[in-house]
Amino acid sequence: MGYEFISYEREPNSIGILTINRPHVLNALNWDTLGELREFLEDVLPKEELKALIITGAGDKAFVAGADIAQMNEMKERDFQDYVDYAHRVYELIENERCPSIAAINGYALGGGCELALTCDIRIASEKARLGFPEVKLGIFPGWGGTQRITRILGLGKTKELVFTGEMITAEEALRIGLVERVVPHDELMNEARKLAGAIAKRGPIAVRLSKTAINAGSEMDLQKALLLEKTLVSLCFDSRDRVEGMKAFLEKREPMFTGE
Ligand code: COA
Repeated sequence: MGYEFISYEREPNSIGILTINRPHVLNALNWDTLGELREFLEDVLPKEELKALIITGAGDKAFVAGADIAQMNEMKERDFQDYVDYAHRVYELIENERCPSIAAINGYALGGGCELALTCDIRIASEKARLGFPEVKLGIFPGWGGTQRITRILGLGKTKELVFTGEMITAEEALRIGLVERVVPHDELMNEARKLAGAIAKRGPIAVRLSKTAINAGSEMDLQKALLLEKTLVSLCFDSRDRVEGMKAFLEKREPMFTGE
């Protein structure tokens, strides 16, 4: 895997760590980085059969400071539309990835960087992290899913406050409003992310995967349809060998040995 702008490592327990790697520009996402991400997500990740994927940024300062402003500045309108389309495609791949994803936010998560974190299932932030949507300062607004994904998490008022002002918030404030799930000391971020990934990796993989589908797809449906989806998916789970193993292990007072079947 000869990537220039991302790196990937597989760790024990089927946990993968994907790092955006352009620290000299605070990991800003240019075309080539998005291209490498797409290739990784479409061609490599499905074969990895991970139980959890952690996404983080290289260096000590930034998760991802957004789309690459220097590159955007050179774009004509048509190029910009293609860039936005491409970013949407990449972000949907992460959101719909079978295994759970965790954003380990190690610094600035701004604009497209915050939008990237929002495609992940769970966000853990270093206490040094700063999050926000500064796009209005550049004469645009968050267009890589930001106005939609953030609204679904924070509601209309908080989203508008963040988007209209472009102001950054601290990790603590992000925790308070529900933009991240945990804040941890900077030096412990990756260990905490690994611990969380490890806790998920021990559980029944089919149950985790189908619960992700139930939660994500169900949140876009009316309650009756969402409940129907939930019933269908949990019944599918019940048919798995992992369910037999999970219940048997409980009754035998031992740890389950899940196989993903
Ligand atoms: N696109 C392209 N380059 C970026 C970038 C981005 N989104 N964010 C930072 N960089 C580059 C800077 O231009 C600088 O490059 P240089 O060393 O060649 O001058 C380098 O990364 C370091 O950033 P700098 O601004 O010097 O660091 P700082 O600590 O003073 O400020 C930020 C950090 C995050 C506050 C500031 O970089 C910033 O506001 N970035 C833009 C964030 C943004 O608007 N994102 C949304 C884009 S749609």
